[in-house]
Amino acid sequence: MKREQWGTRAGFILAAVGSAIGLGNIWRFPYMAYENGGGAFFIPYLFAMITAGIPFMIMEFSLGHKLRGAAPRAFSKLGVKLEWLGWFQVFIASVIAVYYVAVIGWAISYLGFAFTQSWGSDTNAFFFSEYLKLGDNSPSNLGGLQLHIAIPMIIAWGITFAAIFTGVKGGIERASKIMMPLLFLMVLALIARVIFLDGALNGLNYLFQPDFSKILDAKVWSAAYGQIFFTLSVGFAIMIAYSSYLPEKSDISNNAFMTVLINCGFSMVAGILIFSVLGYMAQEQAKPLTEVVSAGVGLAFVTIPAAINLLPAPYILGPVFFLALVVAGLSSHISIIEAVTSAVMDKLKWSRKKAASVVCGVGFIVSMAFATNGGLLLLDLVDYFINNVALLASCLIELLVIGWLLKVSDIRSYVNSISEFSIGKWFEICIRFISPIMLAIILGTNLTNTFNNGYGGYETSDLLMLGWGLVAAMFVIAVIINVASKPLENKEV
Ligand code: PHE
Ligand code: NA
Repeated sequence: MKREQWGTRAGFILAAVGSAIGLGNIWRFPYMAYENGGGAFFIPYLFAMITAGIPFMIMEFSLGHKLRGAAPRAFSKLGVKLEWLGWFQVFIASVIAVYYVAVIGWAISYLGFAFTQSWGSDTNAFFFSEYLKLGDNSPSNLGGLQLHIAIPMIIAWGITFAAIFTGVKGGIERASKIMMPLLFLMVLALIARVIFLDGALNGLNYLFQPDFSKILDAKVWSAAYGQIFFTLSVGFAIMIAYSSYLPEKSDISNNAFMTVLINCGFSMVAGILIFSVLGYMAQEQAKPLTEVVSAGVGLAFVTIPAAINLLPAPYILGPVFFLALVVAGLSSHISIIEAVTSAVMDKLKWSRKKAASVVCGVGFIVSMAFATNGGLLLLDLVDYFINNVALLASCLIELLVIGWLLKVSDIRSYVNSISEFSIGKWFEICIRFISPIMLAIILGTNLTNTFNNGYGGYETSDLLMLGWGLVAAMFVIAVIINVASKPLENKEV
């Protein structure tokens, strides 16, 4: 059967951008920039974008386009002993998929609360105690299923399933064409309002004021690289799958640059949006900005609701903000599930409808672990190991395979033969030297730190089982699939 294809070039770019722009841009990027030196963070961030983000995107677009398969088939075509890397990436995508959907579920609930600000004035207590119902739980002592969290997650799964089940052009592309313009419009409308609030400029000063002492801190560079891979959705099977549906005549380098620049531009805009609001909030409460900001999930579900309480017309701005979060999250979730579904279709020769049903069905059941009292803790622990260990390892191995085992100059000539503008030698230097060296240092530091100090105060048994054990199991199962099953055929489809 002929492989499905995107209908239009804009459709592909919107889908790729829809994958890239996600929860990571809206709550993770602003906080990371703030925490890692404000304006000075942009130096490592832009460096990581140019030396790792853009080359990686070009590389994955060419792999998908040339090899016409999801990650396992693409790597298998590069060498039958490399299929495991594709499965390892598919497992990373699967794990992210089951916890990412929980955050989308929270955002759907908060979209509802936002109409009347029913989160009250103590948004911290509301989120942790009343909404999540977090008690003395741990990642391995989850408590019971919380229906009020499970139901919005079911809604999210339903939308993702509908898009994947319908197919590349009629489902994913159509959803992206609705979701992305809607998202841009909502964010622009929000910015247009909040930028004029009292104190907004103070917030922006905070975000952009460079703290150059942080530039020499290895942690800041690690944060910048980690953020780039996650934010661009590269290194875990997604962009390879999406580009495997590109028509033969496609401009790889142009598409890659656009996707990266739109994503990173959106992050800046989101940063401006969030920090304008925080500056306003600090001013209203006559507190220093540092005292109103809280980290990670807290930023979107604790600080922002508190800020919304203080805004003029909160019943409009609040729902728009959370709808933007939901839309950004859903378009990313669709892309992760597609990465898994298309790998299953390739390997088992299942129809799209069958693969989509099984993948979403199993994913849904597993994701219910995150709809429990301790779901947030499990999410936090798994997310840490996936981002700081598994994803970086996967990216490093991919770079070493492409840069050293195979010929990266082949990829460059392939890209240049079909793209309007040519990419230079810098591409090979980034793939072979700069990015792998940076990644090896960062991954090495993360491994030793985590090994010596654990993470987040969790029990050693939890770290061993749900952190190290999970990553090891993903690796072992990927290798078993590779050696024990018939290789994905090397023939052109
Ligand atoms: N790129 C997404 C973001 O920034 C993250 C993501 C996308 C994660 C797709 C998984 C799958 O939020
Ligand atoms: Na992103």
